[in-house]
Amino acid sequence: NNYVVIMAGGVGSRFWPFSRQNFPKQFQDILGTGRSMIQQTVDRFEGICPKENVYVVTNESYYDLIKEHLPFIADHQILLEPARKNTAPCIAYACYKIYADNPDANILVAPSDHVIMNMQEFQRVCKVVLDSAEHTDSLITLGIKPSRPDTGYGYIQAELDGSQGDLFKVKNFTEKPNLEKAEQFLASGDYLWNAGIFIWKAATIISQFEQHLPEVAALFQKVMPYYHTDEEAKYIHEIYPQCPDISIDYGIMEHAESVYVMPSDFGWSDLGTWKSLFELADKDEDTNVLQGDVVTYETKNSIIKTPKERLVIVQGLENYIVAEKDDVLIICQKDQEQRIKEFVKNISETR
Ligand code: GDD
Ligand code: MG
Repeated sequence: NNYVVIMAGGVGSRFWPFSRQNFPKQFQDILGTGRSMIQQTVDRFEGICPKENVYVVTNESYYDLIKEHLPFIADHQILLEPARKNTAPCIAYACYKIYADNPDANILVAPSDHVIMNMQEFQRVCKVVLDSAEHTDSLITLGIKPSRPDTGYGYIQAELDGSQGDLFKVKNFTEKPNLEKAEQFLASGDYLWNAGIFIWKAATIISQFEQHLPEVAALFQKVMPYYHTDEEAKYIHEIYPQCPDISIDYGIMEHAESVYVMPSDFGWSDLGTWKSLFELADKDEDTNVLQGDVVTYETKNSIIKTPKERLVIVQGLENYIVAEKDDVLIICQKDQEQRIKEFVKNISETR
C-alpha cells in the first residue's frame, strides 16, 4: 500500500542561473556524484516501495527529461502539469489519482532537489513514518535540526510532551518566516525545519484538501472519474488554469489541526539555494567556495562559480555570490539570495 510521489516541477529559481527554466536543478548533478538529483531521489526509495508505485509530478515541458533520467518509470506514473501552480495542486493531482486506484494507499511525498547523506538512516525513518501513517489520520512531516535562521524553510514547533513513539505533535507550523522570526525560532531551541517530505494516507490528505483548499479539492474531484482514460489530460488542462498558485505549506500544513513531526537526522540538505551549496561544498582557508578558475584577494565567505575557461580575479568581496553560466552573470550579496527569485521574475520568462 505504500506509494512515493516525487515533486519535480519546480524551476529552482533561487539557484539561478545554474538552475534554469529549461534545465532545472533536479535534472542536474550539482555535487558531481554521477547521478542527477532526481535520479538520486528515486534511488533513495529502493526497498521502501515498489518501482511501479513511484509517481513523478512535473511540468509537461520536462517529459523528455524525465524519460531520459528515469527510463524505468512508466508513462502512467508520470503526471504532467500544464501550468506551474506550486506544490498544493501537484500533490492534489497525485494523491487523488492514487486514491482513485487504491483508497487504502499510504503516500510519501518528496521533493526532487535534496541531498541526503545517510541513506540507511533515511530509509529507516521512511519505514517508521509510513508505518505510522497507516495508523493515524494525521499529517506527518520530517523535522531537521536548524543550523541557521534561514528564511527559505518551514519551521515546526513540536510539543515535546505529545510524543507517540518517534513522532511529536506539532504545535505550530510557520512557512518561510521573516528573518526576525527565524532568529527567534532558532534561539528558542524547540523549532525544527520542515524537510518538505510529507507522509499521510491518501484518504487523510484528501479530507484536508476538502477542508482547507476546497476549491482545489472540487477541481480534482471533477477529474477523478477520468483517470487512466484518454480524457484525463483534457480535464487536467481544463482545471489547472483554475487552480490557485499555492504551496502545500501555506495551503494546508499551516492550518491543519493534526500534524506530527518525526525529528530526523540523515544528513539532509536542500540544495535549493546558494547558501546550501555553500554549506556543503569544499571551502578555501578564507571560507570561500571557489568553483572555476578563480583567484581571490581579501575575499571571504563568498561563492564564486564561473566557467573553467575564464580566469576570474576577485578583490575585496565579502559575503557575495558571483555566478556565471552561459549568457548570465549575477553578483549578489549572499544574505540577499532569497531575492534571486524576484530578480528572475522581473526578466524575460524564458531565462
Ligand atoms: N510538480 C511540481 N509542480 N513540482 C513543484 C512545483 C510545481 O508547480 N513547484 C515546486 N515543485 C517541486 C520542486 O521541484 C521541489 O522539488 C519541491 O516541489 C519543493 O518546492 P520548492 O519550491 O523547492 O519549495 P521550498 O524549498 O521553497 O519549500 C519547501 O521545502 C522546504 C525544504 O526544502 C517547503 O516545504 C518548506 O517548508 C521546506 O522547509
Ligand atoms: Mg526547495
